[in-house]
Amino acid sequence: MVKNFVVSITRSTISLIGTALAVATLVLMLSLFMIERFGFEGGPYLGILTFLILPMIFVVGLTLIPIGAVLWRRKRSKMAGGDSVPLMPVFDLNVPKTRHWLLIFLVATMFNVIILSAATYKGVEVMESVEFCGMACHAVMEPEHTAHQRSPHSRVKCAECHIGPGADWFVKSKLDGAWQLIAVALDIYPRPILTPLHDLRPARDTCEQCHWPTKFVGDKLSVRKHYEDDEVNTELTTALLLRVGGSEGVGSTGIHWHVDPDVSIRYRSNESREEIYQVEMTNSDGVITEYSDRKAPEEGGVWRTMDCVDCHNRPSHIYQPPGNEIDKAMSTGVIDQTLPFVKRESLRVIDAEYDSHEAARVAITDGLTQYYSDNYPEIASEKSAAISTAADALGDIYSVNVFPQMQVWWNTYPNHIGHEQSPGCFRCHNKRMRTPEREKITSECDTCHVLLAEEEEDPEIMYTLNPE
Ligand code: HEC
Ligand code: HEC
Ligand code: HEC
Ligand code: HEC
Ligand code: HEC
Repeated sequence: MVKNFVVSITRSTISLIGTALAVATLVLMLSLFMIERFGFEGGPYLGILTFLILPMIFVVGLTLIPIGAVLWRRKRSKMAGGDSVPLMPVFDLNVPKTRHWLLIFLVATMFNVIILSAATYKGVEVMESVEFCGMACHAVMEPEHTAHQRSPHSRVKCAECHIGPGADWFVKSKLDGAWQLIAVALDIYPRPILTPLHDLRPARDTCEQCHWPTKFVGDKLSVRKHYEDDEVNTELTTALLLRVGGSEGVGSTGIHWHVDPDVSIRYRSNESREEIYQVEMTNSDGVITEYSDRKAPEEGGVWRTMDCVDCHNRPSHIYQPPGNEIDKAMSTGVIDQTLPFVKRESLRVIDAEYDSHEAARVAITDGLTQYYSDNYPEIASEKSAAISTAADALGDIYSVNVFPQMQVWWNTYPNHIGHEQSPGCFRCHNKRMRTPEREKITSECDTCHVLLAEEEEDPEIMYTLNPE
């Protein structure tokens, strides 16, 4: 029986190749799996190899075996010159040999099914992992992956926002993914990757799996430090009371009023959603109000129903403007605030387009040290350590926000929250957006926040908030 089995899986060249492939991949798969079991961390590529690529080769090998057998039979029947050997196998369960064969076949299939289902299960797990999404196509996804790792959502998997639960979106994402792999292989993907994503799954099925849309947040205090570009890098404080609101009592209030389930806001905009032409609001009483910008094109554009992502378009891929990053590094002391003009000079050296991260680090370090040795030779030698720490920090800042190989520069991906990096809220909340009766969408500063202090040195409010 064993002899027969060996003969049948090796008798034609094709079957032989199939058998060799299947056995080799099986041994590899099992040994890699064992290695992983023993706690060896092979990284994402090992997972992709063990649970995606090897199983595929395994299946190819298995299918080659019967193909080879059928071809071999066909050839033999022709060679014999007669019809004595039928083309297709004949199954007669009364023959003991056939029964043995069937048994071997069933046992082997069962074994294969177990191996393949384990591999598929692990394969799906690998494909859902942040490493797979962010690193399998490392160069392509480097900006998104890096930004994700620094964001409040660094522990949320890519798939939880980009695919969400359920089989249909899973299949859709795999089909899109297959195309993306081809685009990467042929090097025909866009640089930078275009934003916004027009086929992103609606927030209801993704963000709202974790966040309760109408949760009452109320007013949220936000204190920000900025530094001026003067010699002493004067520290300025802005304190905002953001009216995030939410749903409480009879209805929703504040900023999160937009996502009240009883409210629906649709808008028409250009492809990039940076310019909004028209807004249609249906409030909780079902009353529809239309606003439009009289300067905007009357036809064309894209209609969309507003959800979380229209304000939070950067919940995870947050690229900060250079000034904000420097402010943060200065307030945490990574950049020494006592270095003269350090804010202005830092901005000068990093707000540029370098060819690569390495080139940026070199140019930034040279630029900063040069500035101090030319203008403040004493400080340059006294505080050389602080200067080089600052230069390193600026190189780091550049490397996590700018990705030359993907054509991602400062503000390639503007943030719509607020109105600093892009018109953001002001895309709708502006004086041109009006109803036919000339009523505006409110745009008074106090609608969205109370400015407790705006760019002030040592503001009174900070003593009220923190008497110490
Ligand atoms: C918290 C949710 C969330 C997570 C987690 C997340 N993304 Fe995104 N991502 C988004 C949203 C929202 C957009 C769409 C922005 C838009 O359309 O304006 C987006 C856009 C993108 C884009 C298009 C370019 C851009 O920045 O607009 C890519 C590529 C991308 N994500 C890849 C990834 C990868 C890779 C991961 C995991 C490392 C990931 N995302 C994790 C929410 C998320
Ligand atoms: C798998 C669960 C999950 C999903 C899906 C998710 N989030 Fe979150 N989100 C979190 C968690 C957990 C935090 C809190 C992180 C922390 O406090 O460090 C958070 C924090 C936030 C914050 C506050 C960020 C800050 O600066 O403190 C915002 C805004 C937010 N999420 C928006 C979104 C949006 C928009 C989406 C959909 C595109 C989304 N989230 C999808 C889990 C999720
Ligand atoms: C109209 C714009 C807008 C929409 C739509 C919107 N948000 Fe927000 N959200 C904001 C702003 C502004 C803040 C405060 C930002 C800050 O803290 O800097 C905020 C804050 C948050 C926070 C942090 C709250 C906290 O306790 O600190 C979470 C979480 C959040 N939003 C989730 C969501 C989710 C989920 C949705 C969709 C159901 C959504 N938001 C829709 C504008 C919006
Ligand atoms: C797509 C258009 C659109 C965008 C973008 C938008 N809003 Fe609105 N917003 C509206 C409309 C329409 C109203 C209702 C009309 C009004 O209150 O004048 C409104 C009302 C509000 C209100 C008053 C809610 C209440 O209690 O009645 C606040 C606060 C607000 N928006 C904040 C924001 C903030 C903050 C952003 C940016 C993060 C933002 N909006 C972005 C369309 C928009
Ligand atoms: C439609 C809502 C809305 C209106 C109207 C509005 N703002 Fe804002 N503003 C925001 C939001 C939201 C943020 C916070 C964004 C963030 O989290 O970074 C913000 C942030 C700010 C900041 C802080 C920027 C920083 O990071 O230091 C200042 C200053 C500011 N607004 C000034 C104003 C002034 C002045 C007006 C009136 C002319 C105004 N805003 C009107 C929504 C609004």
